Amino acid sequence: MTRIFRNAHIYTPIDKDRPLKGEEMGRVLVIEDGAIATKEGYIVDIGRESDVMKRAPKKAEEIDMGGRCVIPGFVDPHTHACFVGTREKEFVMRLQGATYLEILEKGGGILSTVDNVRSASKEELYNNTKKIVMRALKNGVTTMEIKSGYGLSLEHEVKMLEVIKRLDGKPLDVVPTFMGAHAVPREYKDNPQAYVDLIIEEMIPYVATKGLAKYCDVFCEEGVFSIEDSRRILSAAKDHGLGLKLHADEVCDLGGAKLAAELKVDSAEHLLAANDEGLKAMAESNVTAVLLPATALSLRKPYAPAKKMIELGVPVALATDCNPGSCYCESMEVVFRLAVLGMGLSVEEALVASTINAAYAIGMASLVGSLEKGKKADFVVLEGETPGVIAYHLGWFNVKEVYKMGQEVSLGVGTCL
Ligand code: NIG
Ligand code: FE
Repeated sequence: MTRIFRNAHIYTPIDKDRPLKGEEMGRVLVIEDGAIATKEGYIVDIGRESDVMKRAPKKAEEIDMGGRCVIPGFVDPHTHACFVGTREKEFVMRLQGATYLEILEKGGGILSTVDNVRSASKEELYNNTKKIVMRALKNGVTTMEIKSGYGLSLEHEVKMLEVIKRLDGKPLDVVPTFMGAHAVPREYKDNPQAYVDLIIEEMIPYVATKGLAKYCDVFCEEGVFSIEDSRRILSAAKDHGLGLKLHADEVCDLGGAKLAAELKVDSAEHLLAANDEGLKAMAESNVTAVLLPATALSLRKPYAPAKKMIELGVPVALATDCNPGSCYCESMEVVFRLAVLGMGLSVEEALVASTINAAYAIGMASLVGSLEKGKKADFVVLEGETPGVIAYHLGWFNVKEVYKMGQEVSLGVGTCL
């Protein structure tokens, strides 16, 4: 049965078969008095209401959107949302002056979440992750990437990836990334190279053969994985057919952006400390920058230079980075707001970065990221007339309803699990 969502103010990027960059990032299609026709979960028509109605079959079901703003469902292309337990005490230690890397060096940080994840049953891990994913959904996310990286052994990385896989389609699209190179586990502290070898020789081949992940990511950072380790790990991942991602220059400038360009990764993440040479190389290699402003806020660091990246021609995407350490945030609305008010993006740029460019960063753009014929009917209805309301109305969640494949899947404004 065809369903027609009418009386909508539609704002959507237009897909150009590649991530948008430069001035393209500031352009979105606006359809006042718009309508979207869907069939079996996919968009079959979109345009002015009068035109869509003329083309529609007589028996179509009509849904009145009340003149509110409709945008594509958010795509969150970078999360560590599969975990158990929180790290509030560590957060307070950071407020008192301890740094993120000092805490990790002393065996806390990521490694304390590794303890929690290793001792959790698969069911506990699934239930906790599901709770986080549902919060993201209520706030407008219809597609998300989730990384492993709190197992740090073959057994526990596989446990995480199986949990992540099980969440796919319930109802979000979930893209799994293998991140065994998230930290060096305690048992390899004195011989970190042996852990790098384990990742390359055992973990990557197993994960790739079993089809457990689409991408491989590495935390390339001072005291974690070096440029050379990252190059070796990602080259092995590429040989095994995995897509590549890199946590680059999050805390220190190690030259991660340049490595990302050299390896032509699908996306380089964070880039808070990236240098200009690296950013220019990324622009030349067409590497998407996935920016995480809520992480910068939570770590109390300056935001990544998003405007400069756009001027240089780097395609920019936005993500939450949802994790229990550097950024406990599952809301793309918060990220959108910080991108506009903190990083200086226009509303249009933030919309492009959190939908179509985010979809490209995780290889999902043929299905989601814009409201166009042939794509999934994944969209968000805002309590407002333009997407600007997300940055404007600070004290409230402006996502009113969320539709996944044409079905409403949210409970309404401000509701939370
Ligand atoms: O992207 N930096 C590495 N990974 C996450 C933090 C994970 C954690 O602290 O648990 C990040 O910031
Ligand atoms: Fe991250």
